Amino acid sequence: MEDLDQLRNEFLAAVAGAEDLESLEKVRVSVFGRKGLITERMKGVGALAPEERKAAGVALNAVKQVLADAIDARKAAFEDSGLEVRLENERVDVTLPARPIGEGRIHPISQTMDELLAIFGEMGFTLAEGPDIEDDFHNFTALNIPEEHPARQMHDTFYLPGGPDGARKLLRTHTSPVQIRHMQKAPPPHRIVALGRTYRCDSDITHTPMFHQLEGLVVDGHTHMGHLKGCLIEFCRAYFEVDDVPVRFRPSFFPFTEPSAEVDIGCKRSGGRLKIGGGDDWLEILGCGMVHPKVLANCGIDAGKFQGFAFGLGVERIAMLKYGIPDTRTFFESDLRWLSHYGFAAGDVPSMTGGLAR
Ligand code: DAH
Repeated sequence: MEDLDQLRNEFLAAVAGAEDLESLEKVRVSVFGRKGLITERMKGVGALAPEERKAAGVALNAVKQVLADAIDARKAAFEDSGLEVRLENERVDVTLPARPIGEGRIHPISQTMDELLAIFGEMGFTLAEGPDIEDDFHNFTALNIPEEHPARQMHDTFYLPGGPDGARKLLRTHTSPVQIRHMQKAPPPHRIVALGRTYRCDSDITHTPMFHQLEGLVVDGHTHMGHLKGCLIEFCRAYFEVDDVPVRFRPSFFPFTEPSAEVDIGCKRSGGRLKIGGGDDWLEILGCGMVHPKVLANCGIDAGKFQGFAFGLGVERIAMLKYGIPDTRTFFESDLRWLSHYGFAAGDVPSMTGGLAR
């Protein structure tokens, strides 16, 4: 018994003397480890005479409990003081001025494309895609722009070096080839918009060699010019956010539509400022028409059974009109001061990433 008391006192002293968690753990192992003293003694109890066994077991368990409590208490003390040290070292000075957080801006082109998709998405259009590098057939021929047609010269095409068969690929000059690719893929009905980069060898205040277009296509058994007008008038109102904006359809020509029209919206110009709606001036914003029967036929669609409309618009142009941006080239100069002025904060206006705005 005495020897047990001594053992207890020695270990209590060792626990008290442990300077950190690591040395405390060593003490714990020397007592309770597989070869620890208490463990060894426990084994010894089994070897005692039955009448001694119970008393010895009780005494040993009592010591065991005391030591375990002492170790736990010391451990808790170390952990508490660790927290105090951290609280001391990691103290936050709430009186310091805040560091400014750099906030990105959404580019007006991205913003405008989001708005276009939100509007046409609500009208039931889905998004179709096509490649930037096109072939002559999809960009021109299938759209009823044959070889030697003056419209080909109008497009100032960027051609890529010719392949072994002499065929030259090109950078698409408009998004209209996506119509063709979509119609070739599946039979009507179709109701799609295509959105993306287009390229023409052109550069001045209203032209950049790369720009963006939105294309629309509806083909089914019954869609007529009235639907075309209704759809585009609705679009103009939604996009420019002017409910009574005057919309005018002016006869025009595109090889891939018949009849063709250009759409103008009413505006007022005064003192160098442009106001959408009201006034007696007109601004051209897009081209459209009823899909030419030859285009349908080029995609294997029976023009006797199916018909529809198409439209195309320049994203930069309508972004400039809505947001008062004077020079197209500035869209692509990557000037952060320009972006912080003309850009948008996330969540400012409808975004496809955030779902449709209601
Ligand atoms: N592709 C034409 C262009 O780039 C725009 C256009 C006009 C597209 C009329 C159409 C359309 O789908 O019907 O100038």
